Amino acid sequence: MKKDFSFSLDVYDNMDELKPEDAFLLTRAREITNDAYAPYSKFHVGAVARMVNGSLINGTNQENASYPIGLCAERVLLSAASSVHPGLPIDTIAISYSNTHGESDHPIAPCGICRQSLHEYEERMNHPIRLILGGKKGKIFIIEGASHLLPLAFTKRELDKS
Ligand code: THU
Repeated sequence: MKKDFSFSLDVYDNMDELKPEDAFLLTRAREITNDAYAPYSKFHVGAVARMVNGSLINGTNQENASYPIGLCAERVLLSAASSVHPGLPIDTIAISYSNTHGESDHPIAPCGICRQSLHEYEERMNHPIRLILGGKKGKIFIIEGASHLLPLAFTKRELDKS
């Protein structure tokens, strides 16, 4: 027996094809890459969440001379969202980046640690998080739920006593 995992994402050629509220969110994510603190990697990431009540929360990557301490934009964002609006689900997150060393012309997807964090946020709030992924230009991906990126996720259910 085999078990298959698959998911679909929507691919757009440019921002003009997005719904206005999604285009706005991705534009903000591109803008706030300027606020990232990434003097070591020079890879500036911006993530903006639209909460279900419409309010916006920013996250940017925050590095440190002690490299492993650095935090990705997505986890900075989730911590801020959970602190400013405890218990409020996130509807959509737009993620963009600016790579000083190269082109920023294609979507990037969250790293493995951030996928785990996004998955738990979705479970906690019982609400999927849409992801809009895009560079400074080029194609844009929309994924209807962050958990699609983490099949066979480890969850708190494993820690429950039976
Ligand atoms: N980074 C993010 O902020 N989000 C991602 O999804 C991937 C990587 C950051 C971490 C580090 O500061 C820099 O990008 C280079 O890895």
